[in-house]
Amino acid sequence: MDEIKISILGMGYVGLTSGMAYAKHGFKTVCTDAIASKIENLNKGIPPFYEPELEDLVNNMVNKGMLSGSTDNIEAIRDSDVTFICVGTPPLPDGSADLTAVKDTAKDIGTVLKDKNEYHVVVTKSTIVPGTTEDLVLPIVEKYSNKKAGQDFGLCMNPEFLRQGQAVHDSLYPDRIVIGEFDKKSGDVLERIYSGYDCPKMRCEIKVAELIKYAANSLLATKITLANEFSRISEKFNIDVYEVMKGVGMDFRINPMFLGAGCGFGGSCFPKDVKAIVALSKKIGVETPLLDAVLYTNELQPMHFVDIIKDTVGNLDGKTIAFLGLSFKPDTDDTRETRALPIIEKLYQEGAHVKAYDPKAYYKFKPLTDLPIEYMKSWKDALKNADFAVVQSDWQEIKDIKPEDYKTLLKNPIVIDGRRSYNPHDLIKNGITYRAIGWKNLDD
Ligand code: UDX
Repeated sequence: MDEIKISILGMGYVGLTSGMAYAKHGFKTVCTDAIASKIENLNKGIPPFYEPELEDLVNNMVNKGMLSGSTDNIEAIRDSDVTFICVGTPPLPDGSADLTAVKDTAKDIGTVLKDKNEYHVVVTKSTIVPGTTEDLVLPIVEKYSNKKAGQDFGLCMNPEFLRQGQAVHDSLYPDRIVIGEFDKKSGDVLERIYSGYDCPKMRCEIKVAELIKYAANSLLATKITLANEFSRISEKFNIDVYEVMKGVGMDFRINPMFLGAGCGFGGSCFPKDVKAIVALSKKIGVETPLLDAVLYTNELQPMHFVDIIKDTVGNLDGKTIAFLGLSFKPDTDDTRETRALPIIEKLYQEGAHVKAYDPKAYYKFKPLTDLPIEYMKSWKDALKNADFAVVQSDWQEIKDIKPEDYKTLLKNPIVIDGRRSYNPHDLIKNGITYRAIGWKNLDD
């Protein structure tokens, strides 16, 4: 294997951004997806989702011939040396992951390897619970190829830790790389692919790599949840939870990251992964009271935010609310598990009407609900003649709104902030009533 060629099955956030990064590191990479329009666009240099800086880099790599798209898994696997499985593992009703796409790709890989003489490494990158690579993927590949893992082909598990909104940075400059390996030869191939990445690398058993991803996401979700619980305690003492967490995060054993209280965590990973590991634990007879509580608190937090809104403005019946930010966090158009949905649903139950604005997420939010939300083209349109404003995701564009704009456009100069998007003092000294999760009420 002189020059390593890579195929990536599944062109979601993980597949495409990793593919772009491998291409940038000098590996010819082909990404496949079942949706033909996604592939047509990729081959024109257009990614299927919004992610800062991604379009320029993808365009560049496509033009250089280093990155391409295909709908044909078989051809992509055959013409490559290493195949990453990056397909989706969406949650089933019981919280466990739907592994249909993983099984289908394993079958495709096995079918190709049957007639391929060269050594090929199969890598799972989709988030999958411990045992999935060795107990599900491996037997399928062996069955369809009639070959043996560790002997005729290689097998690894390589979890991905990128954050949406920072996916380009995280895939080019990860803070660590975990290589779960079936045998040394398989791991050595991945180590070669990552030789140009300047970060610590950890090699371990496949099951360890699989569980690291769940443990890392569970810990981050727990940190956020702790900050969220302390936000409610802080409110009772009329103190600022951000000041409390600043002091907490100064402990080097804790660090300041992911202690930002808000209206709960969303996205494609934290809710899904915590639910999946809880579901798996139940199946194998392990109790998870900590993670059960994390999930419970995450449902409470958006409702608590609505309570703050009601405490501030009173009865919501007949009120028009400027709702800023629909995505699960800034810099992404992704609305999976966005806290905007339960909050807006509750606001409608209380009789309010919502004028919503998001810089990118309108198209992905709209299909989530039939509520008569007015979707506005700009934050100015959302604020105009609304009774007050609510902030759900702290896009820079929303953070840049001036107190003057709130004062002139809203009927009442009231901003209720679910993400601590502003320095409260800036708004308060400009005559705005400011309320936020875990914030002391200076004007009481
Ligand atoms: C997360 C992990 O960070 C990443 O390592 C993993 O690969 C995928 O899951 P992502 O979901 O893209 O990444 O976003 P992240 O920045 O982690 O935020 C997740 C949610 O937590 C968002 O809803 C965000 O608003 C919320 N959050 C984050 C907080 O409420 N407070 C914080 O301090 C940080």
